[in-house]
Amino acid sequence: MTVTPALAAGQSGPVAYLSGFGNGFETEALPGALPIGRNSPQRCAYGLYAEQLSGSPFTAPRASNERSWLYRIRPTLQHWGPCRQADLGLWRTAPAHEVDVPIGPMRWDPLPLPETPQSFLEGVRTMTTAGDAGAQAGMGAHVYLITRSMVDEYFYDADGELLFVPQEGALRLWTEFGIIDIAPGELAVIPRGVKLRVELRDGPARGYLCENYGGAFTLPERGPIGANCLANPRDFLTPVAAYEDRDVPSRMFVKWGGALWTADLDHSPLDVVAWHGNYAPYKYDLRRFSPVGPILFDHADPSIFTVLTSPSETPGTANVDVVVFPERWAVAENTFRPPWYHMNVMSEFMGLVYGRYDAKPQGFVPGGCSLHNTMLPHGPDVDAFEAASTADLHPHKLEATLAFMFETRFMQRVTAFAAASDRFQHDYAAYGSRLRRHFDPSRP
Ligand code: FE2
Repeated sequence: MTVTPALAAGQSGPVAYLSGFGNGFETEALPGALPIGRNSPQRCAYGLYAEQLSGSPFTAPRASNERSWLYRIRPTLQHWGPCRQADLGLWRTAPAHEVDVPIGPMRWDPLPLPETPQSFLEGVRTMTTAGDAGAQAGMGAHVYLITRSMVDEYFYDADGELLFVPQEGALRLWTEFGIIDIAPGELAVIPRGVKLRVELRDGPARGYLCENYGGAFTLPERGPIGANCLANPRDFLTPVAAYEDRDVPSRMFVKWGGALWTADLDHSPLDVVAWHGNYAPYKYDLRRFSPVGPILFDHADPSIFTVLTSPSETPGTANVDVVVFPERWAVAENTFRPPWYHMNVMSEFMGLVYGRYDAKPQGFVPGGCSLHNTMLPHGPDVDAFEAASTADLHPHKLEATLAFMFETRFMQRVTAFAAASDRFQHDYAAYGSRLRRHFDPSRP
């Protein structure tokens, strides 16, 4: 059992984690704070309140049943008060059919970091939404731009779980389960309903955010790949318990039903002294993903790069897949090695953390994003096609690159903000027209 002292706000220092994915973790910041052998004793140690946080229905099958027991200074009911509506800025929630943009491939340059102070809550820019948050299906694909830390401000999202993909700048996520530090190259998942405060660690931060309205992210099945490779469970890290005992004026924000609500508090709600269970935030270093791919010929489906999946009720049909394109060797013989041309029933939102993406060597830049929507054609651009069609096929390493995709079964709706952004690459829609005709019936 890991014990950590209480941490004061703003304090830096080593952050400790527990290893594993979806384990039944237990951790306490004060010795003896966790009840032994029961969840809800008549009186908890240290005068704590016991509270269950359920991420799945009570009766969900064991494999998808998620809940944790939190032992806290005050129950969440006291992190509450008369709620008034607050400004959610440019954060949108599905269904949000704000604007019709001509269908086709879409791409954006990186959104610029503002000169003015902007917290995480103020800095979410929704690019696309899909599905229906109220029906707990679909996702929002956002970019966050942060130039100030949240101070005495706390937040939880009732509409979905939050998957952070930093692209520039490191973040410290102060959650009620403990502290998570993330930097570009990593991701972090904050389950639905988990309170947090987002701090900057080394200057302004930009990144991507997937708001998953559906079933909680889990590891994909490996099938014939077997027991190892892809994302290995031991590389997922969940924080040890750490709490704030601070009685200062604070504000609680809750995103619920696509609106933001706020209440005044006189204390910090990050007051969980101990917890146990399998519903908790975690982080993962994407560079620990062990890719598996074609080692003789052909280009495999990108599903082999799935890090996490939010399943739907239909087997094999994800609500959201989080897919990563990391460093890897390309070795296939007599093969067009970049992704093939295709149309897909799933829709694809992509981002680039660093480096270059092999199917789009120009124009898709770190911090930018692209959208290839349901049943719309896409594939390598003309430069990528011509180069890959004539390249010497010796083993080649794709180095210093990290791209990712949020792929959902739902059509993605572009927001009015994304459509009107001056970072919208209007000429990208025609990139396919620059592909040249090569057909010659006299040359088999
Ligand atoms: Fe695709």
